[in-house]
Amino acid sequence: MATAGKVIKCKAAVAWEPNKPLVIEEIEVAPPQANEVRIKIVATGVCHSDLYHLFESMNNAYPIVLGHEGAGIIESVGPGVTEFQPGDKVIPLPVPQCRECRFCKSPKTNQCEKAWVADSGNVMALEDSRFTCKGKKVLQFMGTSTFSEYTVLNQIAVAKIDPAAPLDKVCLLGCGICTGYGAAVNTAKVEPGSTCAVFGLGAVGLAAVMGCYVAGAKRIIAVDINPEKFEKAKVFGATDFINPKDHDKPIHEVLIEMTDGGVDFSLECVGNVGVMRSALESCIKGWGVSVIVGFTNMDDFAARPIQLIGGRTWKGSLVGGFKTKDGVPELVKAYLNKKIKLDEFITHNMALAQANDAIELMKHSKCVRTVLSVSPQ
Ligand SMILES: NC(=O)c1ccc[n+]([C@@H]2O[C@H](COP(=O)([O-])OP(=O)(O)OC[C@H]3O[C@@H](n4cnc5c(N)ncnc54)[C@H](O)[C@@H]3O)[C@@H](O)[C@H]2O)c1
Ligand SMILES: [Zn+2]
Ligand SMILES: [Zn+2]
Repeated sequence: MATAGKVIKCKAAVAWEPNKPLVIEEIEVAPPQANEVRIKIVATGVCHSDLYHLFESMNNAYPIVLGHEGAGIIESVGPGVTEFQPGDKVIPLPVPQCRECRFCKSPKTNQCEKAWVADSGNVMALEDSRFTCKGKKVLQFMGTSTFSEYTVLNQIAVAKIDPAAPLDKVCLLGCGICTGYGAAVNTAKVEPGSTCAVFGLGAVGLAAVMGCYVAGAKRIIAVDINPEKFEKAKVFGATDFINPKDHDKPIHEVLIEMTDGGVDFSLECVGNVGVMRSALESCIKGWGVSVIVGFTNMDDFAARPIQLIGGRTWKGSLVGGFKTKDGVPELVKAYLNKKIKLDEFITHNMALAQANDAIELMKHSKCVRTVLSVSPQ
């Protein structure tokens, strides 16, 4: 490629400060260093974790390029990279899989030691960035930064995918869909014939509904304060629909009554510690399992110990428990073989220049996923 080894100047949506609109800027993207690849991003989803950083987290990691749910094509590779070649279709991974650390070697977890969460959980960005803009270093959100025409990642954080995959659909497997689906099948380990409740019906929650359905749950109760989400939840297999605002008692009491004692599995896909408690308390004693999927690092949660003493299990799930480099290409295959849905999550398609419109839609719960087209293929 003519650009290999050179700095690329390209467009990116830069967040200069919290709570402010992103600004489309020309940035410089350095060539990949040892073990790194430079990727032309073709499409990216907007995930609530991007909004969390911008509006909720109150950290000072700015300026930054957000976006972590993308798909693209390798433009060039740095020294020592043998796994990738220019032209390969890839998905950047917000959680890497180095295959060498004690976590990667253990079948029990997907928490690679080299992930940003390992040492900078509050900041959600790698210190080391290949971006500059107007002479300033610009951070890479979750090490990925897919709201940019080009980005650079370490090869441990990139998954090579089937060349037949449509990038404007499979980008969603980089975070949201992998997260919700895996939380149900890998973390909760939903069982055939079980009763499940999913709180929050964004793409993450709807993917959790899909996971419960694929795992053979017989009843899937979809809970959201926005009833406009219920029609979509039906598409993914939900059987019952609850709006907490329609009830004058706590939502866990409603669920316990509906299910003769509580659900077998519940998944919190909102990122609200009050909802996390409701999800736990909606579980049946003895064996109920509740999984925290929604992200927040702002508040403590609370629950009565008797909930756990009574036999419930409370767990958390990061990107659906998938070891990402292995799991994401498998999910791409599952989509191509029509085993999982993706198209149905996409409610809006826009250009990168409309990133702020996409963010506004999500802020007001008016979309499931917006896919931004970033560069032409
Ligand atoms: N654990 C992980 O690895 C991981 C990965 C991706 C996203 N997340 C997190 O998952 C969460 C969901 O992400 P998303 O992109 O689907 O977000 P989203 O904004 O599209 O969806 C959130 C949904 O929750 C609903 N909601 C809000 N308050 C509610 C309440 N009190 N009760 C019931 N429903 C309520 C909203 O109406 C909306 O439909 C976010 O917290 C995000 O940061 C976690
Ligand atoms: Zn590792
Ligand atoms: Zn995400």
